[in-house]
Amino acid sequence: MAEGNVKRIELMLSEVTKLEELIDRSSLSEVCRSFFDLFGLSIRVYAKSGALLTDVHEERSVCRYLNQTPRGRAACVHTVAEIQKINPSDKTLVHRCFTGAIYHVVPIWYSDRQLGRIILGPFLPAEISEMPESLLELIPEDAREQVGNALAEMPRVREATLVRIAAHFRNILDLILFAGHRSQLMSDMHLASVRESYKELAERNASLQEAYDRLKELDQLKSDFLATVSHELRTPLTSIIGYSEMLVSGIGGDLNEQQRGFASTIHSKGELLLALITNLLDLNKLEHEKISLNLRTVDPQAIVAEIVETILPDAAKKGIRVEPDCPDGLHYLNADPVRLKQILINLAGNAVKFTPDNGVVRISASSVTLSPNESSFDGIGVAVMAATERAIEFAIRDTGIGIARDDLENIFDAFFQVDSGSTREYSGIGLGLSIAKKLAEAHGGAIRVESEPNVGSTFYLLLPERPPQTV
Ligand SMILES: Nc1ncnc2c1ncn2[C@@H]1O[C@H](COP(=O)(O)OP(=O)(O)O)[C@@H](O)[C@H]1O
Ligand SMILES: [Mg+2]
Repeated sequence: MAEGNVKRIELMLSEVTKLEELIDRSSLSEVCRSFFDLFGLSIRVYAKSGALLTDVHEERSVCRYLNQTPRGRAACVHTVAEIQKINPSDKTLVHRCFTGAIYHVVPIWYSDRQLGRIILGPFLPAEISEMPESLLELIPEDAREQVGNALAEMPRVREATLVRIAAHFRNILDLILFAGHRSQLMSDMHLASVRESYKELAERNASLQEAYDRLKELDQLKSDFLATVSHELRTPLTSIIGYSEMLVSGIGGDLNEQQRGFASTIHSKGELLLALITNLLDLNKLEHEKISLNLRTVDPQAIVAEIVETILPDAAKKGIRVEPDCPDGLHYLNADPVRLKQILINLAGNAVKFTPDNGVVRISASSVTLSPNESSFDGIGVAVMAATERAIEFAIRDTGIGIARDDLENIFDAFFQVDSGSTREYSGIGLGLSIAKKLAEAHGGAIRVESEPNVGSTFYLLLPERPPQTV
């Protein structure tokens, strides 16, 4: 627990009020038993409530004899009642029995509180030699000798010795009480600190939950905002693209060269903006797993041909050669063709974009068999693919600028671009790869990359022939 919190602990230390809660009864009984064995002294310990905590005694022959006669029994009962009534407050009280025997009633004090009393006795003061009148008058003449002998069996102790024995007993009792008190305090403190830790944990938990709820709310807001704004932007953008296209194609009347140039720029920038908005929407949907795949049977060879065709115009502008490399007879895939093309166009588009003039971009597809439990890739862009089956691996290889080792682990993050400076050379906003990766994963597949700066990069897309589950 942090130090600052220590003072906040509310230690509810229990008050020392009850002997029965403080004392360890078995230790107490043991001590009393050993006193009895040593001195023949009966000991009874009472709590303040009147509860008898220990009772070590032996019925004395004289008591047994007296209990057989009605007067003797009455006298005994009276004595017991008298002793029970004795409640010493600060010092030992002495009760003299009609037999001449003596009881000491010692108060038990602990931590400024009286917690109970000890009754020591009966015993005969060593000083007494004759039977007292009060006893003689209760027994017939012929029983005197028998009673006298019985009385002689009672332990004889000098009063002063008894006071010392009592003090000794009190000391031992003090130790037992102290040990009990200490363990009570320890357990109270332990309880208090556990209670405090629990309280702290509960508080932290609550604030984490609150932060989490708030984040979730914000995330939902962001997502709703993106969806609405994108939708609202797309509608007017469609008109901008459509009308500028009409202008370029001369449907609205003849334009001069410069006007056509302006309209054409409006058209191409409009298309770019539309692609950007579509990407943002896609990412949003993918992050919230709201994209559903339209699975169809797809011929990898046909897909490769389509991709080549799509990127050919841009490649041609830079004198880049595009080489398809796809053997006949590849197994068909079960995939969403629109999404699959989106992935490959992203990868192939990057290859053309990041390859200097007159380079080469090669797009290939091949059949791969994964052994059970084989993780498909290790390294960048890792995903563990469901084991056992055949897969198709597409590879897009370029002879471009390559990617430095340190950047490899980031390129699949949304909005990450190696060159993100304001004077950057390449267009784009850094969403293509993160979308491609998420779409590949939605198919149960994965993307990885190998690259060497100034030599080129190869992006691999591995797709199982059948997605393990439909997202
Ligand atoms: N074939 C490649 N060659 C070199 N760098 C690449 C290649 N493909 C991707 N990159 C790097 O990864 C970054 C992220 O790519 P992407 O997510 O497609 O974003 P964008 O194309 O919009 O910049 C790119 O900005 C680029 O720095
Ligand atoms: Mg890109």
